[in-house]
Amino acid sequence: MYNAKVMEIFKNPQHMGEVENYNAIGTVGNETCGDIMQITMRIEDGIIKDAKFKTFGCAAAVVSSSTATGMIIGKTVEEALQLTNKQVIEELGELPPQKIHCSVLAEDAIRAAIADYESRQGK
Ligand code: FES
Repeated sequence: MYNAKVMEIFKNPQHMGEVENYNAIGTVGNETCGDIMQITMRIEDGIIKDAKFKTFGCAAAVVSSSTATGMIIGKTVEEALQLTNKQVIEELGELPPQKIHCSVLAEDAIRAAIADYESRQGK
C-alpha cells in the first residue's frame, strides 16, 4: 500500500499540466505497463523557472512526477540532471517495490526534457 504522504500528493498533485511557452519537453514511456509521462519546462539562463507534468499512468507515476517537478523548479539544469528516482522516493518516504519503476519514469522524463532543451540550444 501507499503511505499517507503518497496518498496526499495523489489526491492533490502539484505542477500538473503544461508550462506555457515551454522550451523543453520530454516524453517517456514504460513498455511493460504502458504508462506515459511528459514533462515540460521553461528554462532561462540555465535555471528551471517552471516545470509541469502530464501523466497517463498509475498513482505512483502521478505522485513521482508531481514530486520530481517540484524538486527541480528553481534549480540549475546541471542540478536537475543529478536528480535520481532514489531521491524522489526518499522525499516520498517510500514506494512499494513494484512501483519503483514509476519513479524512474520521472527521472527519465526530466532528462529527456533537458536533452530536448540542449538540442534546441544547438548543443
Ligand atoms: Fe507503470 Fe506506474 S505502473 S508507471
